[in-house]
Amino acid sequence: MSEWGRGLAAVAVVASLHARMLRAQEGQTDRGQETFQGVCAACHTIGGGRLVGPDLRGVTERRSEQWIIDFVQHSQRLVSAGDSTAVALFKEYQEIPMPDQPLSADEVRQLLGYIRGASASGAGLGPVVAEATEEQILLGREFFQGTERFANGGPSCTSCHDVTDEAITGGGVLARELTTAFSRLGGPGVQSVIANPPFPVMQRAYRDNPLTEPEVAALVGFLGLVGAQQALHQPRGSGPKLFAAGLGGAVLLLALYSLAWGGRSRGSVNQRIYDRQIKST
Ligand code: HEC
Ligand code: HEC
Repeated sequence: MSEWGRGLAAVAVVASLHARMLRAQEGQTDRGQETFQGVCAACHTIGGGRLVGPDLRGVTERRSEQWIIDFVQHSQRLVSAGDSTAVALFKEYQEIPMPDQPLSADEVRQLLGYIRGASASGAGLGPVVAEATEEQILLGREFFQGTERFANGGPSCTSCHDVTDEAITGGGVLARELTTAFSRLGGPGVQSVIANPPFPVMQRAYRDNPLTEPEVAALVGFLGLVGAQQALHQPRGSGPKLFAAGLGGAVLLLALYSLAWGGRSRGSVNQRIYDRQIKST
């Protein structure tokens, strides 16, 4: 073989080794991504804002690897041991405990590889909530209280939750009151909880009769309205904080104004309700 040939062969070997290494790394990242999307994404985004839990973008820079592994495996053990970071997070997130994850330290490391990559690439990962129309908001209210049935027959939200809204009385007390859910979790957070509930009781209620996408969008819109109504009635001072939910809140507030002063007679939902009432008399 000529010098040339040998050189080329060496390059080929190095290239194929490199390709194999890249593939192995990709395999790891794939598994991390799978776990993230299957398990963590119900409560976390990477660069998409907070949901039920904090945005995990850059988490590997703010915490040590060992701390994260411990936290993912048994966060409440850190909280009860008085770990100051864990206690502060737990308080900040309304004392919703992060459920223990049955993952080995290596599996958590794989996940962190994925989170690190996604944080660096800046590809904002997280659900995006579309603006709710007046029609969706009104329909969401009906879904919430069960006057409009879900296509797949799931229970109404008021069988477990209550909310402060002029049209709704006597909601359930099994689970949290949802008046401030939108301002606390943000639109994407609420959407993610409803579409993919991370809470076992709620999960069971919709496992065999899942909500459809339009139903979820309508419910998110309705909870946005409820949050905006609540914010309007807040004493001065606490308003800005409630509005920190941001643009979504503002958009919904506009929808609220148009509900109050416009649209009463032209909404197609009103027409539909009207039609139904006519039919049932
Ligand atoms: C049911 C919702 C839920 C799920 C599912 C969940 N988490 Fe969490 N996570 C939380 C909450 C809430 C917090 C805030 C701390 C607290 O309240 O205990 C948190 C906090 C964290 C923190 C600390 C963040 C920081 O800023 O220091 C990390 C890291 C974390 N979660 C990783 C994960 C990973 C990885 C998964 C998937 C294997 C996961 N979580 C699944 C709810 C969840
Ligand atoms: C079978 C009972 C049940 C039903 C039905 C149910 N949920 Fe839940 N939901 C829960 C439980 C339990 C939680 C966990 C929080 C708690 O303990 O209250 C929860 C949590 C939530 C949260 C997060 C609350 C927060 O502030 O962190 C939202 C939002 C929510 N539910 C919306 C809905 C909507 C919308 C519906 C109707 C489609 C619905 N839920 C139906 C039981 C239920």
